[in-house]
Amino acid sequence: MKITLSVIKADIGGYVGHSDSHPFVLAKADECLAKAQGEGLLIDYHVTKCGDDLQLIMTHQQGEDNEKIHKLAWDTFVEGTQVARDLKLYGAGQDLLSDAFSGNVKGMGPGVAEMEFEERVSEPVIIFMADKTSAGAWNMPLYKMFADPFNTIGLVIAPNMHTGFAFEVHDVKEHKKIILNAPEEIYDLLAFIGAPSRYAVKAVYQRETNEIAAVSSTQRLSFIAGRYVGKDDPVCVVRSQSQFPAVGEVLEPFTLPLLVEGWMRGSHHGPLMPVAIEDATPTRFDGPPRVAALGFQLADGKLVGPRDMFKDKSFDNARQQANDVADFLRRHGPFEPHRLPLEEMEYTTMSQVVKKLARRFTDLE
Ligand code: 13P
Ligand code: 13P
Ligand code: MG
Ligand code: MG
Repeated sequence: MKITLSVIKADIGGYVGHSDSHPFVLAKADECLAKAQGEGLLIDYHVTKCGDDLQLIMTHQQGEDNEKIHKLAWDTFVEGTQVARDLKLYGAGQDLLSDAFSGNVKGMGPGVAEMEFEERVSEPVIIFMADKTSAGAWNMPLYKMFADPFNTIGLVIAPNMHTGFAFEVHDVKEHKKIILNAPEEIYDLLAFIGAPSRYAVKAVYQRETNEIAAVSSTQRLSFIAGRYVGKDDPVCVVRSQSQFPAVGEVLEPFTLPLLVEGWMRGSHHGPLMPVAIEDATPTRFDGPPRVAALGFQLADGKLVGPRDMFKDKSFDNARQQANDVADFLRRHGPFEPHRLPLEEMEYTTMSQVVKKLARRFTDLE
């Protein structure tokens, strides 16, 4: 049975500030998707949040980039925005960068990760959702899951993974893509994806079968808007077990609270802290950045779950380390490399300050 799994997300209002989502907004989204399920458009859905980002997890048989599914997501965000406006939530409608829907939410602000596949005998999937960070934050975790034998022993000892995986990398500035094969081309791959502000892993494929293994959202809000409107807060879907990494191999990369772009005003580097959904409430200096992971078993498109994967105690050390790194970085205040490099600050409000003072600069003797 061919199933499409669509995860479409947007920040349509924060509660309080940018720290969380309001239950009324989630309830409205649930109402919209329940209606679509009743009408037969969706097989199943799960509405959740990661910080101030509303997450629509949907299964259906309409394929990727389907207008009806995208319109459903857009209309749900518009209705949720009305609830956010009534409550005067912060940044109501923040990620809706266009006034009218035109066939596909891509390029309109919301983040999208979709994959269509033949559902296996058992189909475990993990949905990662981040807040206070950028597209590209998945580069290192995806590399570890699908190309690093120190993380994924299956690459070494499981015959159905031994051929390796292919990485589809997007140049988010030049709108180009390249496919690189692991393990032969890992040095080339790392040359690009080690620079996640420009190159983002869009998808990963199993090389033997060309099956989709993972897909992420790579929308850069600042490039769409031409200015800072909030961070991308990307999502990523990973299929697991059998010919793909085991669930434990998929989660293992997040035991390192890797440094990512985002945090306060989207202008800092900070550690990505793995947390349960209820703890995805970035509050300290609007952070530190969070990642949550929901696990589902698919059954004829039904979403059996979720299990809140980072709730597990084995991620306590990563959280502690993230807090320690957060303390250390915060002591740098407005200095790089806590603050983002100048090139990245171009899309923040700092450019207005620089412009204002431009005339005060005089030539050196
Ligand atoms: P599978 O190859 O059946 O996915 O088993 C791997 C496993 O679960 C070990 O952790
Ligand atoms: P969000 O992208 O999560 O809305 O955060 C914006 C921000 O500027 C936090 O300080
Ligand atoms: Mg926000
Ligand atoms: Mg957010």
